[in-house]
Amino acid sequence: MANRQQQSAKQLQKVNPFRVMTVMHRAAELEEAGRKIVHMEVGEPDFTTAQPIIDAAKLALDKGLTQYTAAPGITELRECICEHYQQQHGVTLNRDQVLVTPGASGGLTLLANLLVEHGDGILLSDPAYPCVRNFIHLMGAVPQLVPVGLAENFQPTMELLAKHATDFTSGVWLASPSNPTGTILDRTRLGEIANWSKQAGYSLLVDEIYHGLHYVQELPSILELDSSAHVVNSFSKYFGMTGWRLGWIVVPESAIEMANILAQNLYISASSIAQYAALAAFEPETQAIFESRREAFKQRRDFLATALSQLGFGVSESIEGAFYVYANIGKFSDDAEAFCHDILEQHGVAITPGTDFGEHDGKAHVRFAFTTSMDDLKLGIERLTAALQG
Ligand SMILES: Cc1ncc(COP(=O)(O)O)c(C=O)c1O
Repeated sequence: MANRQQQSAKQLQKVNPFRVMTVMHRAAELEEAGRKIVHMEVGEPDFTTAQPIIDAAKLALDKGLTQYTAAPGITELRECICEHYQQQHGVTLNRDQVLVTPGASGGLTLLANLLVEHGDGILLSDPAYPCVRNFIHLMGAVPQLVPVGLAENFQPTMELLAKHATDFTSGVWLASPSNPTGTILDRTRLGEIANWSKQAGYSLLVDEIYHGLHYVQELPSILELDSSAHVVNSFSKYFGMTGWRLGWIVVPESAIEMANILAQNLYISASSIAQYAALAAFEPETQAIFESRREAFKQRRDFLATALSQLGFGVSESIEGAFYVYANIGKFSDDAEAFCHDILEQHGVAITPGTDFGEHDGKAHVRFAFTTSMDDLKLGIERLTAALQG
């Protein structure tokens, strides 16, 4: 018994808090004390949810649609999601392959339970979204971090994955576009990894939460290349619904039954109101709002990446999606946490240290989120210029 408790305590100790939360907390304290802070730490669109979605939620409330829904979500929404894959990716899904979840976070929880067993090794890129390695720790499994840098455009190659695989590896988890780097896996690289992973007998999960928020013509879904892959996506980012806690997963036919059982047990259903509201996200007028927001993000990316690079930060030339610039601070500091602390305390600019996202070169990087207005981005750059060149 004591051993069991020690074992689970050991797993829990590996789950670390986000440093970005400390940054946010401190930024809020400084604001309370009357300082103007430029927020570039938060991975959340600054736009509020599009009005047609809010109106649809009000209508759903007035109609009293407040009960649990079926565990995999309401049929209409799952059909909209299938239609979305057909239109965007030319992929035909069986509606039962789609399960609506409480955010991508709920989807990742379900998929971790579905795909990962105690003692498994899961290949992940480093840097990556921090929760992912914690989900793997919570399953008593081992995140096998694959260091990626500017040379690989911050995404793993098949060769790198093969180099880090061991005899207990059972899966590969990818994200395209990536948080914190905004870089994508193109069709060739995605296809190579999918084939290699299938041949090795690994399960494959791709986090596509930043799909839609991409600034290149072509962004393939893994489902175009591999019908046995697992996908997680969300209404949080492109659809601007972070607080509604709504996402979805796509599982292969063979996993439908188990995924449903897990959904029933883990959360019963996603929020009913959020699901009815999200139906409006697929209407043309709402899509037009998303597209104009995507354009605004693109302009911000162009401005911020250029300005940071001119200031001497090392910046990838191909930030193809999401709303982040993952910048090398080697010219200014060898300690990202101290750098972020000083920039916030002395210059009122909140950014996230690279150490939040992994072990590889995190101290040499910081993440800027362009989830704030162009005016604030300009002010942030003015302040950084004064800090670094003053
Ligand atoms: C890569 C990635 N996956 C998943 C999530 C979780 O998103 P959600 O709000 O849908 O739970 C995030 C949130 O920032 C993310 O960046």
